[in-house]
Amino acid sequence: MADRGPTAPGVDPEAPRAASSARPRVVLGVTGGIAAYKACELLRRLTESGHDVTVVPTAAALRFVGAPTWAALSGKPVSDQVWEGVHEVPHVRIGQTADLVLVAPATADVLAKAAHGLADDLLTNTLLTARCPVLFVPAMHTEMWEHPATQDNVATLRHRGSLVMEPAEGRLTGADTGKGRFPEPAEIFEVARDLLARPGQPQDLAGRHVLVTAGGTREYLDPVRFLGNRSSGLQGYAFARTAAARGAEVTLVAANVTLPDPAGVKVVRVESTAELRDAVLAATPTADAVVMAAAPADYRPRSVSDTKMKKADDGSAPTLALEQNPDILAEISHDRTRPGAVIVGFAAETGDAHGSVLDLGRAKLARKGCDLLVVNDVSGGQVFGSTDNEAVVLDADGGSTPVPRGTKTALAHVVWDRVVARFETAAG
Ligand code: CTP
Repeated sequence: MADRGPTAPGVDPEAPRAASSARPRVVLGVTGGIAAYKACELLRRLTESGHDVTVVPTAAALRFVGAPTWAALSGKPVSDQVWEGVHEVPHVRIGQTADLVLVAPATADVLAKAAHGLADDLLTNTLLTARCPVLFVPAMHTEMWEHPATQDNVATLRHRGSLVMEPAEGRLTGADTGKGRFPEPAEIFEVARDLLARPGQPQDLAGRHVLVTAGGTREYLDPVRFLGNRSSGLQGYAFARTAAARGAEVTLVAANVTLPDPAGVKVVRVESTAELRDAVLAATPTADAVVMAAAPADYRPRSVSDTKMKKADDGSAPTLALEQNPDILAEISHDRTRPGAVIVGFAAETGDAHGSVLDLGRAKLARKGCDLLVVNDVSGGQVFGSTDNEAVVLDADGGSTPVPRGTKTALAHVVWDRVVARFETAAG
């Protein structure tokens, strides 16, 4: 079902969260996988950012990380069963009062139990009583993840409105590698926070392939030196993460970004603008939307030394001869390889004698030929590396959407809303 958000059955996604607690109430369900130790970091991030977290481990999880650890980190008592404090009816109350139930790590076993409505411990009871968004973060060996039983259970949970993150690929418990790795806690934290902010998250990008670029390119002078820029990749990663949360298949072309990979996203790593261009051109024929959030260098050295350039003994400095890089955004906007695709560009402007920030943005939108342009005023240099952003989204049809100062995640959602609106207009 493409239009259901990750909300438990019977929830009005627009309804305000339980107002009884100013702090968002999160139930952190921990199940019996080795990644339970990484959930400690996730718990720390949640509590330190002001969330009221109740940890509900399974008995198997407690064999990996003991109750004292969860109690100390959450500041609350911890139990895995329904027979403690029965007078407070915890098996019902914990789920009913939660704003988010986050199961991380989620084993194949808990996915199966949740899909079939089993309730044999406190966590599975909580899952049945929760009426808030539910987020599962699976972690298991590749064979278990790929087994048709697990895949069917995941499909069932998604169909019912739960959000099930795709596991990461990489090193597993033993020497083996593959899909099934627990995503980075920082990444899970961002997805959870996004879900709390938008509990009725629509799956309006389901069935769409989106391409996002992020980071800043490097143009090498020699094997150790390059020309680069300050782009952190945070905005592009927010685009990739939010698109995945809205159901898209995402290809992320990352230029020199050190952030953890967003879960369930195909990441293609590049360094130079030429590599970025190759990766973008390879993906555009199947991309329904392209977001060019990367900062490709406009120029590259005309020649690259194979060996390290030595400092001159006479105190002189070399003169760098540069040549222009291709403008990838303009190229894909003018040579459209996928009819109906929505192409989004970025413009970091300071305004000058030729016009205001918005005048320059409008001119750039027309020059590049893209459909949407996100215009940032960078006069104060405040955007780079910051977690906040403020922008205006210009539409080729003449419209504009101001986005007040907020998180890069919030800006990404506004842009995806505009992209979806264009899909809907095109579909008539
Ligand atoms: N871009 C691109 N290829 C380049 C340079 C930029 O695709 N070689 C894309 C960026 O990803 C961004 C948009 O173009 O989405 C705007 O980049 P910007 O550097 O502001 O554009 P320029 O044409 O270089 O304009 P300016 O002269 O203002 O720097």
